[in-house]
Amino acid sequence: MLAAAIIGLGWRYYNDKLLVKKLSLEYDLSKEKERLKNYSSQLEELVAERTKELRKSEAMLKTLHEYANDGIVIMDDKGVIMDVNKKAADIHGYEKAELIGKNIEILELEKHHTIGYERMNRLLSGEPLVFETEHLRKDGSTIALEISAKAIKIDGDILIQSIHRDITEKKRLQAQLLHSQKMESIGTLAGGIAHDFNNILTTVLGYSDLILIDENLSPEVAKKVRVIETAARKASSLVSKLLSFARRGSIEPVPFDINQVVNETVEMLSRIISNDITIKRSFNVRIPPVMGDVNQVEQILMNLIINAKDAISGNGEITISTSTVELSSEGFSLPADIRKGQYVKLSVSDTGKGIPEEHRERIFEPFFTTQGVGKGTGLGLAMVYGIVKEHGGYITVDSEIGVGTTFDIYLPVAEARTPGSRSDLIDNGKSVGEILVVDDEFTVLDLIKETLLRNGFSVKAFDNPLQGLNYFRTNSKKVSLVIADIVMPEMDGIQLIESIRELNPNIKIIATTGFSQNLGDIEVEGFLKKPFQSSKLMSIVREVLNGEDDAVNLK
Ligand SMILES: Nc1ncnc2c1ncn2[C@@H]1O[C@H](COP(=O)(O)OP(=O)(O)O)[C@@H](O)[C@H]1O
Ligand SMILES: [Mg+2]
Repeated sequence: MLAAAIIGLGWRYYNDKLLVKKLSLEYDLSKEKERLKNYSSQLEELVAERTKELRKSEAMLKTLHEYANDGIVIMDDKGVIMDVNKKAADIHGYEKAELIGKNIEILELEKHHTIGYERMNRLLSGEPLVFETEHLRKDGSTIALEISAKAIKIDGDILIQSIHRDITEKKRLQAQLLHSQKMESIGTLAGGIAHDFNNILTTVLGYSDLILIDENLSPEVAKKVRVIETAARKASSLVSKLLSFARRGSIEPVPFDINQVVNETVEMLSRIISNDITIKRSFNVRIPPVMGDVNQVEQILMNLIINAKDAISGNGEITISTSTVELSSEGFSLPADIRKGQYVKLSVSDTGKGIPEEHRERIFEPFFTTQGVGKGTGLGLAMVYGIVKEHGGYITVDSEIGVGTTFDIYLPVAEARTPGSRSDLIDNGKSVGEILVVDDEFTVLDLIKETLLRNGFSVKAFDNPLQGLNYFRTNSKKVSLVIADIVMPEMDGIQLIESIRELNPNIKIIATTGFSQNLGDIEVEGFLKKPFQSSKLMSIVREVLNGEDDAVNLK
C-alpha cells in the first residue's frame, strides 16, 4: 500500500516535472521564435540597406561614367560597342542608341581599318594602348582624338574600355605654334638679307647722288646715273617690303581713325578697280582709335584689296568692314602671344575664287604666289602679316573655293595718349662743332662723311665703335653731334649710344639703321632709316642741330 502510495506520489511528481519541463520548453520555443523573427526582420533591414547602398554606388558609378569629361566606349572582343557615355556620343555627333550594337569601325576612317584590327589584337593579348588618331563623325567630318584603351576581364568575358579625349584644340594650337615659329625663322632670314641689301643700296643711291651733284657732269653720264638710281630705288622698295615682313621696318605709332584710312584707301584704289567690282563699306561709326602707323595700315588694306580684286574674275564684290571686339581667352581661341582686351576688327572679304586648303598655310610666306611670273611678287600678304604682328595684332583667313575669302585683322585699340610734337626745321648749314660718325659699313661711313664734308661740316669717322667711343672720350668737348649705326658687330650701337650719353648726357645723337628695333630706354634726337639719300641725311642733321632738346623715344 505504502509502496503503491510512494509510486503514486513518484508518478505524480514525475508527471508534474514533465509538465514543468513541457511548459518551460514551450516557453523557450516561443522566445526562440520571437528572437528568430526579430533576427529575420533585422536581416531584412540590413539587406534593404545594403541594396540601397549598392544601388547608390551603382548609380554613382553610372553617373561618373555617363558624365565623364572624356568619351568612354565599352566594346566586346569583336569590337561591337556595348556601351558609350554621353561624351563619346557627343564628340562623334551621334545619339548613344545609334552607336550601341554597332562595330567600332563605323567611327574609324577607312584607311585606319587595318591598323584598327592590329590594335584590337594587341589589346586582346593584354597590352594597354595609348595613341592619337582621327575618327569619323556622323556628319562626315573628322575629329582628332587621343585614345587610351585596355582589355578587362569580367566574369570570364573580355571587355575593352576605350577612353577618347578630343585633342582638336591641342592640335590646332600646336599647328599654330609651328606656323608662327616657321614664320619667325623666315622673318629672321629675310630680315638679315634685307639688312645687308640696305647697306648696299644706301651706297649705290648715295654715290649716285654724289655723282649727280658734280657740276661738270656730262648730261650723258647724268642720264645713266639716273637709270642706276631708279633701279636702286626699285630694289629699295622691295627690300622695305621684306623688312615689313621681318617686322623691322620703322613704325611710328599714333592713334588714328581706321574708318578714315579705309575711305582714303578705297578712294585711291577705285581708279584701278574695274566697274564690274563693287566695293562695299560697312563701318562701326563709333569705333575707337587704333594705335599704329597709318601708312602701314594703309599698306595692309591696299594689299588685301588688290588681292581681292585679283581673285575676282568678272563681276564681284569686295566688302570692307570695321567693328570692335573684346578678345578674351574664354570662348575665343586666342593665339598665345595676343593679349586680352579691346580690338578693332578690320575685315576684307571678296566673292572671288577662294584659296585652296593646301595654299592657306603658305600664303603669308614671302615669295609665295600663284600669280604668273612677273605678275605677283608673293610679298603682299607677307607684308600684311609682318605689319599686323608689329602692331600687336593678328590675322585670320577664312576661305571657300568658288565662294570667296575673308581676311580678318585684329588691331589693338589705342590707349589715351597725346603724341609728342617735334620742332620744325630751322635754317641750314651753320658751322658747329665736329660730327662724329660711327658705322661699320665703310661705304656707308664714307658716304655720310663725304656728304657732311660737302655741306661744310667737320667730320670724324670711325668704322669701329670702340675707336669711336675712345675718340669721344678724349674729345667730347669738340663733338656736337654723333651719328651712330645701331647694328654693328663688336659693340652694339645701343651700347655705344649709352656709353656716349654717360660721358655727356646732353650730346645730340642720330641713330641710323635699316631696322627700327626696340631701343629700350635709349633716347635719340633723330633717326635715319637706311637706305637714305643725302638730302634726307642733311635735313635730319640740320633739324637735330638746330632743334630744341626734344628727344624722341623710339620704343
Ligand atoms: N583674296 C584672295 N583670294 C584668293 N587668293 C588669294 C587672296 N589673297 C591672296 N591669295 C593667294 O595668296 C597668294 C599670295 O598673295 P600675296 O602675298 O599678296 O602675293 P601676290 O599677290 O603677289 O601673289 C596669291 O598669289 C594668291 O594665290
Ligand atoms: Mg598680292
